[in-house]
Amino acid sequence: MIGVTQTPGRFITLEGIEGAGKSSQMAAIRATLEALGLRVILTREPGGAPIAERVRQVLLDPENRDMSADAELLLVFAARAEHMDKTIRPALARGDWVVCDRFTDATYAYQGGGRGLDPARIAFLEQFVQGELRPDLTLVFDLPVSLGLARAGKRSAPDRFEGETLRFFEGVRATYLARARAEPVRIRLVDASPPLEAVTQAVTATILAFMKPYRPPAVRSNHCGPDQFLPPAGPKP
Ligand SMILES: Nc1ncnc2c1ncn2[C@@H]1O[C@H](COP(=O)(O)OP(=O)(O)OP(=O)(O)O)[C@@H](O)[C@H]1O
Ligand SMILES: [Mg+2]
Repeated sequence: MIGVTQTPGRFITLEGIEGAGKSSQMAAIRATLEALGLRVILTREPGGAPIAERVRQVLLDPENRDMSADAELLLVFAARAEHMDKTIRPALARGDWVVCDRFTDATYAYQGGGRGLDPARIAFLEQFVQGELRPDLTLVFDLPVSLGLARAGKRSAPDRFEGETLRFFEGVRATYLARARAEPVRIRLVDASPPLEAVTQAVTATILAFMKPYRPPAVRSNHCGPDQFLPPAGPKP
């Protein structure tokens, strides 16, 4: 193991509107954590377990355009209950680090900020399904709605959410920003507008800053740059 003390598993979530670059950054986050000797699983919501993935299909299917907001909210949490039971809690119990593409902040943003559901009802379901479990670190990838949708539009046919109005996504973005302001320790904002490599650098720096308490004191005190996590140099040619 390189440079990290034994830790219990930790839970990192990635958030942001469509096209913000969450999925694009997953591999870099995994690489950063694995270079520290941590076991990492990557997962996503809705989904991340077999039954939850089936619920995902229902939620994203554009054919289901007249789904009620309440049904949508309950399906999101039904999928989450399954995901937590089958994937997240077992992984954390093994000591793995879990990196999840969207989680409950997305419910506040989409079903709350987008659809206008009362956040108190979301909070009730959050407590019901998750108990005390909350992410240890959340990265919110922020960028103008028009830029995110333009990026997402180039990628594939729109799902049920991608077909929503600009006003919906402005509500989603505003809710993410408000949550980041309200919980500045857990939630870190990442400017997602710059080119991919620049965003990756910012993400890596944020992850390494989060890791600081897990590094052994000797390493922490004499050397603070990210290069301390490079593998030991091999024999010189
Ligand atoms: N910083 C960036 N600059 C330019 N293009 C990017 C950047 N980040 C991601 N992209 C591109 O934008 C598209 C959307 O990125 P990605 O799929 O990672 O977004 P996402 O946040 O996962 O979206 P969704 O919520 O819809 O899954 C992809 O084609 C990706 O290659
Ligand atoms: Mg994605």
